[in-house]
Amino acid sequence: MNAKQDDFARDWRDTVREIEGMVFDMQSFISATFKFKEAIGPEDNAELKIRTAEVRGKTIWQFTKGPESQNLSRSAAKRTLGKLLYETPVDQAHVTTGEADLHCRIAKKGRVLVSRSKLDLERDVAKTRSHDRQKDYPLTRFDSAALLRVLGFTDSQGSMKPSMHAKYRQVNEFLRIVETTLADLAPSSDAPLNLVDVGCGKAYLSFAAKAYLEATAGVKICFTGIDVRESAIASCRRMADALGWTEDFTFVVADIADFKAKIQPDIVMSLHACDTATDEALAFGVESQARAILCAPCCQHELQSKLGTGGPHQAILRNGILKERLADILTDAFRAQILRVMGYKTQVVEFIDQQATARNILIRATRASRVGMHNAVGEYQALREAWGCTPFLAERLAAACSELVES
Ligand SMILES: C[S@@+](CC[C@H](N)C(=O)[O-])C[C@H]1O[C@@H](n2cnc3c(N)ncnc32)[C@H](O)[C@@H]1O
Repeated sequence: MNAKQDDFARDWRDTVREIEGMVFDMQSFISATFKFKEAIGPEDNAELKIRTAEVRGKTIWQFTKGPESQNLSRSAAKRTLGKLLYETPVDQAHVTTGEADLHCRIAKKGRVLVSRSKLDLERDVAKTRSHDRQKDYPLTRFDSAALLRVLGFTDSQGSMKPSMHAKYRQVNEFLRIVETTLADLAPSSDAPLNLVDVGCGKAYLSFAAKAYLEATAGVKICFTGIDVRESAIASCRRMADALGWTEDFTFVVADIADFKAKIQPDIVMSLHACDTATDEALAFGVESQARAILCAPCCQHELQSKLGTGGPHQAILRNGILKERLADILTDAFRAQILRVMGYKTQVVEFIDQQATARNILIRATRASRVGMHNAVGEYQALREAWGCTPFLAERLAAACSELVES
């Protein structure tokens, strides 16, 4: 392949990924039309149109080539389109979603010309940036093929399974945050870094963090995965075996509330542990004096029941959905503020876009000061007074800081 062909192959691959993202991963996808340089269907037809439809409660992708239409599942549609786009020379493509249009033309000299709708320029710029970030996923920066296969992200051909795409993105975005946090902790190259993954499930995050940080940052990682489900821990052990990993990790079947760390963790991580399991993860981080806590909360029900329905907030609380969303926000606001009270410098950020997961909030905390700083306690107490309730995490940590429950 000469340099020009190389450039074309790279640009075309990036464009196909962008098109696939719009057609298969965006709920607002409307339609796509591809004109090929050769016939792809009956009557010398060289045009493919794609749209989605709901059939018996499921989304299907309808491929129309001239008079012929075919309904395909997401995975079959993605396979079929990928094959066509890589195996048949394309002349033009036009993809429309609720947010943007993409026009693509292959110029004579084999250049890929892409333009996006001007109406959504800002959004497009953001999308291009996020597309650029995708190309630079942490798990693409080293040879992660064996890891991805054993964790079940890819099939035996090394292709990403559609059902794992969302989790793959989550893990990658979480890894970026782990990496930034690691830089804040400034680890020495000879002492291993202790990670604890709380409510680890299949521990995708820990496996990926160990492989990634050891390969790219030269830091030795020891990790502990804790989960209450025996089956999840058994599966983690099988995956460690399959990777040939024999040391530097421990998997424990335990309820987080009962688990005590033998070694002070550097980072306690928790991705989508349910309801108060997230609070237990935060409490574990604080009590074990973790240097950093990274926690993406999942469903949150506990505070809802404490909010009641009356009082000055009745107009919000009488609506089930508003109450639920308010409780989500308040729960995380309380959690972040309690961590500040417990001496952690805390931020609440989105670790991934909302399209990828509605549970996209991450609480990032690094140990910075002593427990019970006056300002942090004052702000916390004002919040508690305003809403007339004490969250689970405050009760859980009251022994370490009584001001969390006292008035
Ligand atoms: C939604 S899954 C997330 C798993 C994993 N962190 C991930 O993101 O792929 C939540 C996990 O938390 C575990 N879990 C929930 N409550 C727990 C508790 N109290 N103690 C330990 N694990 C718990 C569940 O068994 C489940 O594996």
